Amino acid sequence: MSLKLGVNIDHIATLRQARRAAWPDPVDAAAVCLETGADFIVVHLRKDERHINEKDLALLCKTFPGKIHLECSYTPELEKAALKYKPYSVCIVPEEPGEVTTTGGLKFTPQVKARLLEMIERLHKKGILVSLFVSPDAASVRTAAKLGADIVELCTRDYSEATTAKQTQKLLQDLALSTLLAKELGLEVHAGHGLDYHNVLAVADIGGMSCMNIGFSIVTRSVFAGLPAAVSEMKELL
Ligand code: PXP
Repeated sequence: MSLKLGVNIDHIATLRQARRAAWPDPVDAAAVCLETGADFIVVHLRKDERHINEKDLALLCKTFPGKIHLECSYTPELEKAALKYKPYSVCIVPEEPGEVTTTGGLKFTPQVKARLLEMIERLHKKGILVSLFVSPDAASVRTAAKLGADIVELCTRDYSEATTAKQTQKLLQDLALSTLLAKELGLEVHAGHGLDYHNVLAVADIGGMSCMNIGFSIVTRSVFAGLPAAVSEMKELL
């Protein structure tokens, strides 16, 4: 069975925001991605709305019910948006001031755990599946399960930035062991961050993974190859 592909279209909106224009429209991009191999559309609503904004989220959830996977932090404002537009699933991620992109998995301090517990409960009440973006380690996976998540998305940032074969092997082993544990605990397993046409296969080969969430490499490839080809080439790899 082939793995599911979630295409993150944030950077279609980044291009639009470069000119504060009306296009390229993320809704058009989502339609192309879904027609050419994406199983889900992923969007990250950030506090500063620097790419995807609340209006995009509203339109995407309305146009593609059951297909939108929202990434957001655990602030009350972002939770409110998630509850209002009801995406199919929400991946809760950390958001640090000034970051260029998400820097890693959630840091489970007692305050963060208490906040996640209440947010997860409210999302579940609306029938929204909850994913937690975590580092590929046993403690984080166990915490995600205890908090009641449905899915863990294992952070592949360190893997994608590894510079030696030894590091790469160690990080792949961490991803494989975390996947095994997450499956034992009854969680669905996703992976994402920094995955591209070269490094995705080793992660996709880990038994138990069900979805890869990929944005930057697909959107940047689409500049040269076109969005339909960029999406279908990635889906074929999976
Ligand atoms: N998954 C999560 C949780 C992310 O925060 C991101 C980046 O927004 C991605 C996947 C996609 O990462 P990339 O754009 O590097 O493919």
